[in-house]
Amino acid sequence: MLILGIETSCDETSASLVNEKNELLSNIIISQDEIHKEHGGIIPELASRQHVKIIDLVIQKTFQEASASLSDLDVIGVTNGPGLAGSLIVGVNYAKGLGLALTKPVIGVNHLKAHAFAAWITKDLQTNKEFHVPNEYPLMCLIVSGGHTDLVLLNSNKEFELIGRTRDDAAGEAFDKAARLLGLGFPGGPQIDKFAKLSGEKFNFPRAFMPHTHDFSFSGMKTAFLKLSKSETPYDSLKISKLCNTFQEAIVDVLTKKTINAAHINNCKGIVLTGGVAANSWLREEMVRKSDIPVYIPEKKLCTDNGAMVASFVSENYNYKSKIKDINLDVFPSLSY
Ligand code: KG4
Ligand code: ZN
Repeated sequence: MLILGIETSCDETSASLVNEKNELLSNIIISQDEIHKEHGGIIPELASRQHVKIIDLVIQKTFQEASASLSDLDVIGVTNGPGLAGSLIVGVNYAKGLGLALTKPVIGVNHLKAHAFAAWITKDLQTNKEFHVPNEYPLMCLIVSGGHTDLVLLNSNKEFELIGRTRDDAAGEAFDKAARLLGLGFPGGPQIDKFAKLSGEKFNFPRAFMPHTHDFSFSGMKTAFLKLSKSETPYDSLKISKLCNTFQEAIVDVLTKKTINAAHINNCKGIVLTGGVAANSWLREEMVRKSDIPVYIPEKKLCTDNGAMVASFVSENYNYKSKIKDINLDVFPSLSY
């Protein structure tokens, strides 16, 4: 059984193959960071044009890397929301064309659920690394990315219950904006992560915990960071690192404490940490250190947007008896759980 996952919801063009055991055969991810960097954020029209240019190459490469051919393929999964409409359309139309040509089913996959399913990939066949996958429910899942900061209760791998989310900025967005204030470029999250490692020092800094709710709010912390960073100009490299460390520590403090608290309240057997911000080194360390229940975190390259998580969703959820050929599959830019 060979499953292709296609992901083009934002600014990564990615295609990956997994088998029926949810082992990863190949994972090609082409990022558009270079294109959007000069604008300081993602330009939707440039994103969709770039997907159009390279999607065919990305699909070819993923088959090459897996030493597989199109005729081996059984099912195609493609992200059809949420995301940028123009970007989603490219992946969905490619998938429909391929499904039609090969007479194979095409399944629309929710990008947020797919992020969670990155944690169900059992092995990377290229590195031979095996992953510890969740096997007991309920699970508390923190999906934390550039567009979302969601706490989702999983009672099974089919039941996603959104119990908390950000009321303003997503954590990734807050990282990106903080990095921009310091002139660190786009995307900012990885830059903050890198510079924070160079400093053990911190400024005093507030946190917004939003008590009595599982919701988050990062806009106040972002404003506090704006004030702090202004008061610390001019910057030298030590000060930049101390500022990054301060902001990262505050965001991670809120994310870890609220996730662990929500897991306890709901008697969860484990925590799943995923989405682009889950690539943050300090967040990964702190969640494991503070939690007394198992924490499942996909490898960094499976946390940021990728086709493997889409293929993994299909591998775990698809009923092989129902052969879906959904030629009417549409995109849903604001899709929720
Ligand atoms: O999941 P993702 O690739 O795309 C969306 O679905 O949004 O997440 C992208 C976000 C960006 O805001 C980026 O700055 C953040 O994830 N990110 C990080 C790190 N790597 C990516 N944030 C903090 N630390 C990182 N190492
Ligand atoms: Zn994402």
